[in-house]
Amino acid sequence: MADQSLTIRQPDDWHVHLRDGAMLEAVAKSTARQFARAIVMPNLNPPITTVQAAQAYRERIRQAAGGGFTPLLTAYLTDSIDPAELERGFREGVFSACKLYPANATTNSAAGVTSLEAITAVIETLERIGMPLLIHGEVTDAEIDIFDREAVFIERQLAPLLERHPGLKVVLEHITTADSVDFVAAGPANLAATITPHHLHINRNAMFRGGLRPDFYCLPVAKRELHRIALRSAATSGNPKFFLGTDSAPHPRNAKESACGCAGIFCAPFAIESYATVFEQEGALDKLEGFASEFGPRFYGLPQNQGTIRLSREPQLIPERLHLSGVELVPFHAGENLPWRLQP
Ligand code: DOR
Ligand code: ZN
Repeated sequence: MADQSLTIRQPDDWHVHLRDGAMLEAVAKSTARQFARAIVMPNLNPPITTVQAAQAYRERIRQAAGGGFTPLLTAYLTDSIDPAELERGFREGVFSACKLYPANATTNSAAGVTSLEAITAVIETLERIGMPLLIHGEVTDAEIDIFDREAVFIERQLAPLLERHPGLKVVLEHITTADSVDFVAAGPANLAATITPHHLHINRNAMFRGGLRPDFYCLPVAKRELHRIALRSAATSGNPKFFLGTDSAPHPRNAKESACGCAGIFCAPFAIESYATVFEQEGALDKLEGFASEFGPRFYGLPQNQGTIRLSREPQLIPERLHLSGVELVPFHAGENLPWRLQP
């Protein structure tokens, strides 16, 4: 009989969208309830591009999340961002990393980078100071099939980038393909990847089951089953190049369920239970702690958390909707039973 409870070192979320204003108030505690730290994405409107803006945002997050949670801020790269500002923010402990959005790849990415060549000076600075570059790895060319955009990005952009800058620390964020698994696994130690709970649970059919299902739409979009299987095997392998990043990306329900629904899955509320479910299904619960709590800090050069969390094997029905601080949200796994429950 399976163990009835599981205690692990407290995990961190190495990729999350906490937003700002009312949405930040609504979602921050979902993350803080499980994770000691989180790498917070900078794709606000306007994006976080200065040390001063990051400090102010960090304070707003601390207020919304409450005590015991450490937000780690990122800088949003644009074609014209000043590398000296990034270096100063990194040295002062305000910026933990830089986020590269190819322009127009996803939500609030219009101000993103139009070509890697445009930011050569930035990349040279990151490589020199050891500041991680977090990449949304999709090409944006409309003629490339949306299901191929991650694999084409690796071939056309990422592989040449790593050849030009062998010392650059790179996290390929929210990987969705077997191609990415293979590329990261075969790459140098300074290349890693985050994996979301939803890409471990769903394949692309989820978006079309019985009708159009916007709650399963995110970017990069979920791929075929063979890719999901490859992601599950990477996440549960114990390979330290793969670690936890939820990419929880909340949008109000009416913005998801509309004629042009926003990309993003709100997976934060039950994220650790969601991952635990996958690891149990794969017979790899003993690998959860490395993936969730050890490999991320190791890559970022940060200490591991000292506290622990306890999950009990106790089914919980995930609500169809959440009303948090006046915002209506649909959580990932809405209406499903998850076999694990995080103990308060
Ligand atoms: O689905 C997504 N939503 N993918 C992203 O890359 C951005 C995110 C968001 O900010 O909503
Ligand atoms: Zn994201």
